[in-house]
Amino acid sequence: MTAARITVNGKDTPIAPAASHTTALDFLRERGLTGTKEGCAEGECGACSVLVARPGVNKPTDWVAVNACLVPAAALDGQEIVTSEGLATAGEPGTRSTLHPVQEEMAVRGGSQCGYCTPGFICSMAAEYYRPDRCAHADSSDGGDATDAEHGPNGFDLHALSGNLCRCTGYRPIRDAAFAVGTPADEDRLAQRREQSPPEPVATDYTRDGKAFLRPGTLADVLTLLRKRPDAVVVAGSTDWGVEVNIRSRRADCVVAVDRLPELRELRVASDHVEIGAALTLTEIERRLDGQVPLLGELFPQFASRLIRNSATLGGNLGTGSPIGDSPPALLALEASVVLADADGEREVPLADYFTGYRQSVRRPGELIRAVRFPLPLSPVVAFHKIAKRRFDDISSVAVAFALDIEDGFVRKARIGLGGVAATPIRSLATEAALEGKLWTAETVEAAARVLEAEGTPMNDHRASADYRSAMLGQSLLKLHAQTTEGVTS
Ligand code: FES
Ligand code: FES
Repeated sequence: MTAARITVNGKDTPIAPAASHTTALDFLRERGLTGTKEGCAEGECGACSVLVARPGVNKPTDWVAVNACLVPAAALDGQEIVTSEGLATAGEPGTRSTLHPVQEEMAVRGGSQCGYCTPGFICSMAAEYYRPDRCAHADSSDGGDATDAEHGPNGFDLHALSGNLCRCTGYRPIRDAAFAVGTPADEDRLAQRREQSPPEPVATDYTRDGKAFLRPGTLADVLTLLRKRPDAVVVAGSTDWGVEVNIRSRRADCVVAVDRLPELRELRVASDHVEIGAALTLTEIERRLDGQVPLLGELFPQFASRLIRNSATLGGNLGTGSPIGDSPPALLALEASVVLADADGEREVPLADYFTGYRQSVRRPGELIRAVRFPLPLSPVVAFHKIAKRRFDDISSVAVAFALDIEDGFVRKARIGLGGVAATPIRSLATEAALEGKLWTAETVEAAARVLEAEGTPMNDHRASADYRSAMLGQSLLKLHAQTTEGVTS
């Protein structure tokens, strides 16, 4: 096995002597690339954003922005990253560098004051600048409405910046810069890089001071390892583990990365079901499904930020077992099941039976979530309501997902998933029963809303009171009814 190394701004850079838990952020800064900043160290401010070359959706390679504060440097073994320093084009000795078009727009439109957040904004903005289908969305000849409050005339999707915070400039000049960037020139080296294959995943065995970061090359190797080391921490995007390392100073003797395993990165839409690999990022799922599963289409924009969605996975969101994970309510409403794999084979567990207690599940030591499956056809009336203090990039107080079949005015089938009202995500069985077979009328919905308010065992905490959580459940159903009957959209 070769020594672990990363291509940083085109330069081959050994990871040693970094510790196995050292973040990409600290790794870069310790090598003088101090444009990449630490603001929060938990994935909420984007000051640490860098670009990573990843398998593309529309081209061989995409430039994807990720939070360098969360991903261990060892997880980037064999990969290519570009920082804010690597975007500008170096001039001849004695002359100034040429700013990248994104940097240029930020500078001339006043998008930076103290500058602390700016390199992170620049990297997130550059990822959107290089998104291959960005300009196609700007062309409204396909009937699409490309320009709205969150999309520029150049196709720039402001959600690309939903994970970046600025405390002094104000967002209007930053939005102006985003909406002013053009398209990459033919000779743009990062645009050209998209046409080449992405870096191949490499098997990694990086051990420092007795602590190992391992990336086995095959699923079989991972399962054999997990049988021997059931204490290993399994990571994909590290969006949860990175917070544990940074904020709670947790260290593991053995971390096992599974995010590049091909068996965990398949997405299949069959005639009777959809199967989504546990290690596909939420952005990859969103772009590959492209609206085919409308409930997930509602979920994704509300799931953290684009920066987090570029790394986070369904396997990780289910694996942590959090009662306020955003995906379980939607997956419960979709009647999803979890495909668990170990060295002896696979088993499929309905998600409704998967959670057994606070951050507990039926997943056994040595088992890995390989995929999530849900049946087709989909129920046509769907909604995902996330009640949180901020519209984007926040933890939910309550989340409710609906999937209803309504035919001839009757509710033929109702599936409702809830988060934030019990020690685990739950199906809202009593409310489903209160709706099924009934006319979809205000009277039915009022009565069912009272049932929904009584579901779960919500608690008081700093995010919301138990009474508020219960009230929001009922309101959520009333809102859905209003949306389906009165055209209310928000
Ligand atoms: Fe705030 Fe990384 S330092 S998201
Ligand atoms: Fe100061 Fe954004 S320019 S925080």
